[in-house]
Amino acid sequence: METMTCLVTGGAGYIGSHIIASLTAHGYRSVVVDDLSTGVEARIAGLPLLVADISDPASIETLTAFMRDHGVTSIIHTAAHKSVPESMVNPLGYYRVNVGGTINVLRAAEAAQVSAFVFSGTAAVYGMADGRVTEESPTTPINPYGESKLAGEQLLADLGRIGALRATSLRYFNVAGTGSTLGADNGATNLIPQALRRISQGVSPEIYGSDYPTPDGTCVRDYIHVVDLAEAHIAALAAIEADPTWSFRVFNVGTGTGYSVREVLDLAIEVSETSLGYRLVDRRPGDPASIVADPQRITHELGWSASHNLRDMVSSAWNGMTGTA
Ligand SMILES: NC(=O)c1ccc[n+]([C@@H]2O[C@H](COP(=O)([O-])OP(=O)(O)OC[C@H]3O[C@@H](n4cnc5c(N)ncnc54)[C@H](O)[C@@H]3O)[C@@H](O)[C@H]2O)c1
Repeated sequence: METMTCLVTGGAGYIGSHIIASLTAHGYRSVVVDDLSTGVEARIAGLPLLVADISDPASIETLTAFMRDHGVTSIIHTAAHKSVPESMVNPLGYYRVNVGGTINVLRAAEAAQVSAFVFSGTAAVYGMADGRVTEESPTTPINPYGESKLAGEQLLADLGRIGALRATSLRYFNVAGTGSTLGADNGATNLIPQALRRISQGVSPEIYGSDYPTPDGTCVRDYIHVVDLAEAHIAALAAIEADPTWSFRVFNVGTGTGYSVREVLDLAIEVSETSLGYRLVDRRPGDPASIVADPQRITHELGWSASHNLRDMVSSAWNGMTGTA
């Protein structure tokens, strides 16, 4: 069988590097474009790498040539800016990379005649939705980050509709854990790495708000292990590659089980064997009480489901951070 070659944009990132490990395990070859702004080159040692900023229009030409040179047959587009608070102070910068950069990657894909495309979507498109969300739930982002990701999906839907692209957006819930020390999430804006980092520095982790209408008063979220998430990309790619009539489809990627912030921190405290407790502080604006994926669509249509639990996520994140993964 012909070896398929996938271009992973943002492949030196936390999620991108785990996707590459899955691609390799499934017999794909990977090539990477990354500007190394948050990515780590050592994560992709030995792979063809184009160091370029996808938001620079000049990248269209270099990326097209790179794809042609390497016989790229599909694209997994993870390169983006991903911090919600940062997006509120720099909306233009977020649209430039997340929308403008996506347009440039799509232009290069068109020029190189690559039509299979998997996009890093996010549960942030559901905004302040409360409870369980399906892919049919309203998309009402409440910050520029979520808006820019929804705009990315709209681009893909429009191209899919005219038969120019066969695409999928995977709407990730809260991604956590690691498959290796190098792959550990160093962004640390998400709850689990943030809490573990504080613990490792001898500082109590914080709970933002304990008076939400949830069983223990703290926010409930759906956490997904990055290794399971990476596998969802392989399932999506395989479905697109098998169906020449595919246009555009979105899928939630979560476990379907919600955990409260308190439950997560209890596990973080147990796994790290710290004597620290957590500190209750005020709510932050823009945090819905509870948001959990309904993952039925991806299970039924792509045959994917999560196999790691919250303990796997917290303990692998701790081992990754402390260098014992
Ligand atoms: N981590 C999460 O919980 C989460 C949740 C939902 C969605 N996502 C999405 O998943 C994707 C990957 O996130 P991550 O957590 O791996 O973040 P990350 O910052 O580790 O990875 C992003 C990668 O993209 C690269 N990059 C950024 N801007 C670029 C540019 N202009 N040109 C070229 N490369 C660029 C970075 O250097 C990095 O290697 C993002 O699209 C993010 O929005 C992440």
